[in-house]
Amino acid sequence: MKVSASILDCDFLHLGEEIRAVEAAGADCIHLDVMDGRFVRGISFGRPLGAAVARAAKLPLHSHLMVIEPEKQIDEYLPFSEVVVFHIETTEDPGRCIEQIRAGGVKPGISLNPDTPIAALKPWLPELDDVLVMSVFPGRGGQQFIPESLDRIRELERLIAGCGSRATISVDGGVKPENAGLLAEAGADILIAGSALFRSGDYARTIASLKSPPLTPGPLEP
Ligand code: DX5
Ligand code: ZN
Repeated sequence: MKVSASILDCDFLHLGEEIRAVEAAGADCIHLDVMDGRFVRGISFGRPLGAAVARAAKLPLHSHLMVIEPEKQIDEYLPFSEVVVFHIETTEDPGRCIEQIRAGGVKPGISLNPDTPIAALKPWLPELDDVLVMSVFPGRGGQQFIPESLDRIRELERLIAGCGSRATISVDGGVKPENAGLLAEAGADILIAGSALFRSGDYARTIASLKSPPLTPGPLEP
């Protein structure tokens, strides 16, 4: 299991230190939540902050674009991302976005909201390196995990296996040590954690328990 640190909830006044801290604590990648105030209500940050993170980080960066018309913005994130993920709900032409990302030497991923059928991804799965399953409605950190996401991850895993895709499954939203075991069982490869990590007093301990969760899964709701 890999853990990706979503910096949306970190202390932006000490961004460099926060990045070094999660790297030292055992994170596998850094997750950048780009919001445009249109696809989602809020605005978070864009390319300048992503580029600054890239200068500070040793770990690979995964850019999660929560923006409409991603084809207009993808190029901004290619220079410093290992993976660029766009939302299937935001474009008429996912194939073109995938090609644009791949042409930049970057791995393409698609994300989908909790109410978008998993089957919508079917045509694109063979071309993807990652699928990012939203387990909350995107827009902000600190929300409650939607338990139905577990079945969606299982369905996605079957589809991925069925078409021979190499796509990993990332899960984003309300991820915490208490549901990490269920997510691993369902087929998640990368757990993206924001508030559960940055609001915890001990990054190393939180990352370790996301990777090796307690044997008895805790309640899905707090
Ligand atoms: C939500 C973002 C997530 C968010 C996760 O719109 O895509 O990456 O930061 O935060 P938590 O882990 O607090 O749900
Ligand atoms: Zn995200």
